[in-house]
Amino acid sequence: MTSIENQIHQQWIYSRHPTGIVSDEHYELRNQLLDTSLDRDEVLIAARYISVDPYMRINQSSKPTYNPEPHPLNTVQAAGVVGQVLASNAASLKEGDWVFGMTGWQSHARVHVSALTKIDPTIAPVSTALGVLGMPGRTAWFGLTEAGKPHAGEVVVVSGAAGAVGSLVVQFAKRHGAKVLGIAGGAEKCAWLKDKLGADWTLDYKAYSDDVTLSQEILKLTSGVDVYFDNVGGMVTDAILPIIKRRARIIICGQISQYSGGLDVAEMGPRLLQHMLYQRATIQGILARDYLHRMDEMLAIVSPWVKAGELVFEETIIDGFEQLPSALNSLFTGEHRGKLLVKV
Ligand SMILES: NC(=O)c1ccc[n+]([C@@H]2O[C@H](COP(=O)([O-])OP(=O)(O)OC[C@H]3O[C@@H](n4cnc5c(N)ncnc54)[C@H](OP(=O)(O)O)[C@@H]3O)[C@@H](O)[C@H]2O)c1
Repeated sequence: MTSIENQIHQQWIYSRHPTGIVSDEHYELRNQLLDTSLDRDEVLIAARYISVDPYMRINQSSKPTYNPEPHPLNTVQAAGVVGQVLASNAASLKEGDWVFGMTGWQSHARVHVSALTKIDPTIAPVSTALGVLGMPGRTAWFGLTEAGKPHAGEVVVVSGAAGAVGSLVVQFAKRHGAKVLGIAGGAEKCAWLKDKLGADWTLDYKAYSDDVTLSQEILKLTSGVDVYFDNVGGMVTDAILPIIKRRARIIICGQISQYSGGLDVAEMGPRLLQHMLYQRATIQGILARDYLHRMDEMLAIVSPWVKAGELVFEETIIDGFEQLPSALNSLFTGEHRGKLLVKV
């Protein structure tokens, strides 16, 4: 490990509220000399992998979300980070240890030990603490099993199926014996879903210009939907609600098609809900943080699959701290597969 003296501490500061898609212009890069002083029980970490997630755009909404206040301007962009300990004043962590913390888009962080979770690097690549063995894994597992409750033979449809959460939901649903339709943008992602993740059917939503024809195609493939795990909202969801089956479960995990501009405008009234009535279906929003206290439960189930190589947990890793805002932007253009990360 290199000397910690005279290192540059880089930070991406969230500086401007976006009205449409978020990009570089909403952030400022700050450089300063690294402060290496530590109080008792504090740890200095160097970020190695930094997460970019769609929730960052939700938190920039000017309206209340699941947080009462938006992300404050002129502060470091909040984010999950996998880092290494550079110096420690805490008994439980030593130099070189790998840790997870919500330390944000910065190259280094001085944090109280209680805000860090130690990572065992022998289980899986440490970056998985931001993906399959982290928040996206928790969302996929509990969202599907607690809200979706899929049974063998049922039809599970997953939108955003080639992303961090969606790609895991596809595989978890297969493990429950469900028949799975993965919906994603582009033929390449669809081929990956089928060939590598075991989806029974796939659909490229970008090949459809309206919900009616997309709906007809989904119905032709599946004969109706028992569980819909929704990551995207918009046209894809409009295509699915009219073809849900009796007692269908609809899990609202994300609505990414609405984030770039749709969060701040007046919402439309409820739509297509007559189908919920006709089919006595349930619709449930789910939030990863509600299952934080059950993280160990998820890890006990999923880690062995990861270790045994039984689960595909692709990571798209972009190199360079400077790339963080453009990486966030690319979540909305969909260039990656699996979990999108930036390596520092
Ligand atoms: N409720 C929770 O606690 C929770 C936790 C984590 C994530 N989420 C939500 O889950 C969803 C997926 O998150 P993730 O982290 O796994 O991201 P991700 O799926 O890895 O990346 C986002 C993907 O969304 C798709 N997308 C972007 N714009 C779209 C549009 N207009 N219409 C349809 N698809 C679009 C793109 O894939 P294509 O190439 O297929 O278009 C893109 O790759 C997001 O909505 C996120 O907010 C919720």
